Amino acid sequence: MSPFKRLISLLSGASLLSVAYAQPSPVVQERISAAIAKAAIDPYDVNYTEFVNVFIGTNDYGDVCPGASIPFGMVKFSTDLTGYAPAGVYQPFCSRILDDMINGPGYVTDPTQKIRGLSPMHDSGTGSSLGTYGNFEIMPLLCPGGYETCTVRLDDRERYRKNNTDVIILAQMLTPATSLKLWTTTSRWKPPQHAALAWNVLLFPKDRERPILFSISQTIFRSHLPVVTWTSTQPWVESPSEDTGDRGMWSLCYPWDISHQAVNSFGPGAFHYQAFACYDLLDDGKQTLDEYGVWTGETYGLDYWDDAKGLGETHLNLSVNLIGDVYQSGALFSYAGEPSEINIRVGISFVSAEQACLNAETEVGSATFDEIITQSQTLWNEQLSKVTIDFSHTEPNITELLYSSLYRASLTPNNATDETQGVFANTTHFYFDSLYCSWDTFRTFYPLMALHSPVEFAQIVDNYIDSYLKRGWMPDCRANNLPGWTQGGSSADVIVGHFAMTYHDEAKQLGIDLEQLYAAMIADGEVNPPEWNIQGRQVNVYRQYGYIPFAVLDTASTGRMTREGSRTVEYAYEDFAIRQVALLLNKTEDVDTYTNRSYFYRNVWDPTVESDGFTGFAQKRYSNGTFYYTDPIDCSPADPDPNRECSLQDDNVVGFYESSSWEYSYFAPHDMAYLVQVMGGNTTFVERLDHFFNASYFNVGNEPSFNTPINYHYANSPTNSVDQVHNTVFEYFDITPAGLPGNDDQAAMATVLVWHLLGLYPVPGTSEILVVSPFLPTYTIHNSYLGVSTTVTVQNFDSRSVQQTIPPGVAAYVKSVTINGQLSPSRCHFDFYDTFRVGGEVIIEVTSDKNSVNDCGTSLPYSLSTGGFNSVR
Ligand SMILES: *[C@@H]1O[C@H](CO)[C@@H](O)[C@H](O)[C@H]1NC(C)=O
Ligand SMILES: *[C@@H]1O[C@H](CO)[C@@H](O)[C@H](O)[C@H]1NC(C)=O
Ligand SMILES: *[C@@H]1O[C@H](CO)[C@@H](O)[C@H](O)[C@H]1NC(C)=O
Ligand SMILES: *[C@@H]1O[C@H](CO)[C@@H](O)[C@H](O)[C@H]1NC(C)=O
Ligand SMILES: *[C@@H]1O[C@H](CO)[C@@H](O)[C@H](O)[C@H]1NC(C)=O
Ligand SMILES: *[C@@H]1O[C@H](CO)[C@@H](O)[C@H](O)[C@H]1NC(C)=O
Ligand SMILES: *[C@@H]1O[C@H](CO)[C@@H](O)[C@H](O)[C@H]1NC(C)=O
Ligand SMILES: *[C@@H]1O[C@H](CO)[C@@H](O)[C@H](O)[C@H]1NC(C)=O
Ligand SMILES: *[C@@H]1O[C@H](CO)[C@@H](O)[C@H](O)[C@H]1NC(C)=O
Ligand SMILES: *[C@@H]1O[C@H](CO)[C@@H](O)[C@H](O)[C@H]1NC(C)=O
Repeated sequence: MSPFKRLISLLSGASLLSVAYAQPSPVVQERISAAIAKAAIDPYDVNYTEFVNVFIGTNDYGDVCPGASIPFGMVKFSTDLTGYAPAGVYQPFCSRILDDMINGPGYVTDPTQKIRGLSPMHDSGTGSSLGTYGNFEIMPLLCPGGYETCTVRLDDRERYRKNNTDVIILAQMLTPATSLKLWTTTSRWKPPQHAALAWNVLLFPKDRERPILFSISQTIFRSHLPVVTWTSTQPWVESPSEDTGDRGMWSLCYPWDISHQAVNSFGPGAFHYQAFACYDLLDDGKQTLDEYGVWTGETYGLDYWDDAKGLGETHLNLSVNLIGDVYQSGALFSYAGEPSEINIRVGISFVSAEQACLNAETEVGSATFDEIITQSQTLWNEQLSKVTIDFSHTEPNITELLYSSLYRASLTPNNATDETQGVFANTTHFYFDSLYCSWDTFRTFYPLMALHSPVEFAQIVDNYIDSYLKRGWMPDCRANNLPGWTQGGSSADVIVGHFAMTYHDEAKQLGIDLEQLYAAMIADGEVNPPEWNIQGRQVNVYRQYGYIPFAVLDTASTGRMTREGSRTVEYAYEDFAIRQVALLLNKTEDVDTYTNRSYFYRNVWDPTVESDGFTGFAQKRYSNGTFYYTDPIDCSPADPDPNRECSLQDDNVVGFYESSSWEYSYFAPHDMAYLVQVMGGNTTFVERLDHFFNASYFNVGNEPSFNTPINYHYANSPTNSVDQVHNTVFEYFDITPAGLPGNDDQAAMATVLVWHLLGLYPVPGTSEILVVSPFLPTYTIHNSYLGVSTTVTVQNFDSRSVQQTIPPGVAAYVKSVTINGQLSPSRCHFDFYDTFRVGGEVIIEVTSDKNSVNDCGTSLPYSLSTGGFNSVR
């Protein structure tokens, strides 16, 4: 999700990918290639972390954070740079002045951007252009004139990197006199594993002539300012802040209008969050400070008044800021004895400064930097080895894409269990931040997790259910511990529904009460929230009319009255997810109600609308039943008006969210047979899909497009899906920093790619899996909770198929599927319960004889209206 996505798809293609970036270091790719080559020779001694390229998707709106983290780590330590870098905080609509005032952008490869510091909290793949976090930056500085001459404000302290020097956890920074290296790593392997925690080593040349000073800073926009406390008996710098975070960005762009909402990250500006950091500057007493003190500064305008330092001052308490200006403050210090290496232990907490210190103490303890690197790599190895492959017969780029995507598939959401605040304070449930957002992740992220990680999946589901218990509805988007905007409706229903469908037998043992899970779904489906911009749905009018009418009088609730077409089709899919769980739990009446509601997507289908010779499109509709025409091409990448608003803006008038009617008219993953029929039958449906791709209506960089390439399956033409998926993967994804076609969106983009590479595609909220065609000859998915491993092997695999256009005569089209020795009646789909749940062997036989296999065999993928999904497994 991103207002920029349309722009991206307009720009996407070879031209963007050919830009030569000076970062990261060529060493990054050299090491990965060498590791893959080594694994091909010695597959028994494999270190999966070596295949991960953390820089994929760091450019061109991928918004990936390449920082150091552990799986689902609350800490993601990364360099923060100037420029458009939403893995931290940046405000793109305001220019240079505002850029100067913003704390902690994230990473970008662009060599013309400067480092401002290193900070422990980031999100990855944020769809919002504004990003989140970036608090508590630390930055080394060379100050030839001594302490008082050190300039510490954001724009004064920024420095260029040396070109071609960024590697995974290392950046080389240029200063006037020399270069400094920054290293970070994180770990949280020691019980109680509360907050994630970072360890920070800063190396610099011994031959330097002057002391290096370090600045820790926090920039606060509104409300409470930081309290920096520092005592000689306690070696910590505590830096609590009540921050509006990106939510408070209003004061940057429009300081005179404190209620302006336009510049929020992705949620209401009214909400605040708290974060606390604890820096052990003395490394448990192993280091000694030389000079130290606190500083304050202001950024807006007053060039002649930069910062004010108090050498020896140890306390700073700026507790209230009402006028709305931006204040910066922090600590400035140097080390005694000219050490060549500095270690700083860093703890983070959302509860208190004390807890931040405790987290550093308990989770880093006395471990060395190298020990922590090894520990976090062990955790990543465990996570990544849930999928194993045959290195010698897999294309190196595919290996790198696969493991880099699997890495990001476990990088977020951020596990902040026991670090809760607001209504979640002291909850006994698991808690995850950066659900960014459910609308993005229900499609591919959680279905992938279901294949191999039921324990993690259950914890996140527990968090969704707890959100219902604490707030009344499940969240759609969450960042900085705050509710974010709802995009389609309550996509969380599909997520928890997918868990129930795949692990109902183990739910109890995994800590999930299915009745409670169902109650949470029913709340989303039945209870109208007073404001449905942040949770729940506008179910009152939806139930009354069978669709969300355009320009309807809603006397009971508020929310942005746009996206009536896309909200209707998505509500219907959420209802289908509820229907599946109702079926599972024998809620007979509800099954009836929600089966009916699953068909509501039909109510926005206008059979008279024509576009490019094809008839029948989804459209928004008045409450009296009359359709309101908008051109189905609007908000597609081929939209003639590049300025049309297509996202959450109040002047998005097309009726669809971040995509076109052309795209949304294909959205009924639970009932595609009906869409095939109303679009004119199998042949016309295939022609229409072909036209959709050829005419550039495919908005590859955004989630509504995820399932379009595989829709040929439903018209009994599976080989077309194979061709289209190959085209999509090679045209839009690669191993470069520009290698994602859109925001990673909590690894939504990473996981759609993983499914494509595995040659499968999920139907979210069900246990059905479509068979497309794998990009690698064999892989095994290990599910240690169920104690099973499932190997998928492609018989007749031809490596020449691994390209954008499969050449004639090259085998890639599925001829048969054999599951544990039994020939499957369909070559288009199978069930999780027959495959990844039981383990064993799936053999996918492929052929080059496309025409002979361009049908599904005896059974098409399921559709509700033709008798599919009539029972749950
Ligand atoms: C994995 O590879 C990294 C990078 O080469 C290396 O530093 C690390 O020691 C390896 N870890 C293990 C557990 O082998
Ligand atoms: C790095 O490369 C960029 C782009 O080629 C160039 O503009 C910049 O001056 C270089 N920076 C340094 C520090 O050499
Ligand atoms: C989340 O953190 C809790 C508390 O430390 C831990 O028990 C749990 O295993 C973690 N889960 C994941 C998925 O990281
Ligand atoms: C900071 O100042 C506020 C307001 O004067 C006070 O309530 C608070 O206790 C002070 N905090 C510390 C840590 O001194
Ligand atoms: C959470 O529990 C702690 C310790 O019992 C208590 O001090 C704190 O007030 C509680 N916070 C809330 C918001 O209930
Ligand atoms: C639902 O009904 C079926 C068939 O009567 C039964 O086998 C199953 O145990 C029931 N499930 C629940 C959750 O009650
Ligand atoms: C569902 O729709 C059918 C057919 O239109 C209708 O007969 C039935 O009463 C509906 N059930 C519910 C619970 O609305
Ligand atoms: C329905 O309402 C719209 C908007 O008021 C109006 O333009 C249209 O003519 C109405 N249709 C019917 C059939 O009354
Ligand atoms: C599409 O083809 C399948 C398989 O031959 C057939 O069952 C189905 O009825 C066809 N759909 C339409 C709408 O013609
Ligand atoms: C691997 O990816 C790189 C970067 O996109 C590309 O230049 C190269 O051609 C690819 N190699 C193969 C064999 O596709």
